[in-house]
Amino acid sequence: MGYAKIIGVGKYLPDNVVTNEYLSTIVETNDEWISTRTGMKERRITTGEDTTDLAVEAAKNALYNAGISAEEIDLIIVATTSPDSLIPCMACRVQEQIGAVNAAAFDLTAACSGLIYGLNIGKNFICSGQFKKVLVIGSEVLSKIVDWTDRNTCVLFGDGASALVIAESEDIDGIKSVHIGADGSKGKYLTCSALKLENIFVNDDKEYDNKIRMNGKEIFKFAVNIISDSIRQILDENNLSMDDIKYVVCHQANSRIIEFAAKRLNADVKKFYMDMDKFGNTSSASIGIALDDIVKDGMLNKGDKVIIAGFGGGLTWGSALIEWAIE
Ligand code: UT7
Repeated sequence: MGYAKIIGVGKYLPDNVVTNEYLSTIVETNDEWISTRTGMKERRITTGEDTTDLAVEAAKNALYNAGISAEEIDLIIVATTSPDSLIPCMACRVQEQIGAVNAAAFDLTAACSGLIYGLNIGKNFICSGQFKKVLVIGSEVLSKIVDWTDRNTCVLFGDGASALVIAESEDIDGIKSVHIGADGSKGKYLTCSALKLENIFVNDDKEYDNKIRMNGKEIFKFAVNIISDSIRQILDENNLSMDDIKYVVCHQANSRIIEFAAKRLNADVKKFYMDMDKFGNTSSASIGIALDDIVKDGMLNKGDKVIIAGFGGGLTWGSALIEWAIE
């Protein structure tokens, strides 16, 4: 088994900024409630670009930052819960638009844990020797599946995309301790239907709801526990302490979730990067967007250790220890 490492990160966000003040003109809410309960101040909402458009731009940025061409990519994985078509999948659309003519392509659905699921799959393809370079994208236009009359959810989500280029590595084991998991018994706490069952034999009047519905309190509890438990597991199995970790990058669903998780770990919350104030919860895109900002701000050096941790609908979760491999 060989090693894999991240060689490029990229992101793309629509230009349109939607503030808490703006949301208070469409539902009964206010800046004070949203910012103190979630840490969010603004988010981006598309005015026309769809999930593939965001994915393509994030992919181009990640390829540019990795210094490689699209033809070198062997596999494209798009993690999304808000595709713009079922056929073709987003990954095939991206493959065509960026000219990744040598790449296999498929989508995966693991909600907000999707990027880490993709990272795990990509790493395994590389470490098995089947592929040399894999592009993993998280892209969401959640504004399509948000109920804009439901203040419990519509203030939380944003649109955006991020991408990671992962490649075979001879020196650094750059993606260590990847864990993914699921608990379908808690799936009812975060739902969004897809296609109605309707055919020549079935045509009933059953209520059909293709918008996001969430039991926020249950997800909150689950998230605090799974983040702190998975970070503890990663530290233990690598004989590390929080002192060895430069940053923890969690899924950006709520600043209070991250603060509680840090407290449960007795860790300094300053190590936990947060940007939900600017972008809200962008589901599968959020961890990659945060990583891209950290890199752009020059906050990571080769050899630094970063833990990433995600959780979301399914319910699913994922975590990984990354050794930064880029100079
Ligand atoms: O991507 C992964 C999935 N999502 C998550 O990780 C979200 C996890 N959950 C959360 O982040 C939090 O549970 C929320 C931010 C969603 C909600 O915060 P909370 O502290 O759990 O609030 P709550 O649901 O208990 O609501 C408290 C009150 C309620 O009013 P009453 O019943 O006490 O009168 C809500 O109706 O706040 C009300 N409320 C709002 N008020 C103003 C709910 N949403 C809003 C709002 N503005 N947008």
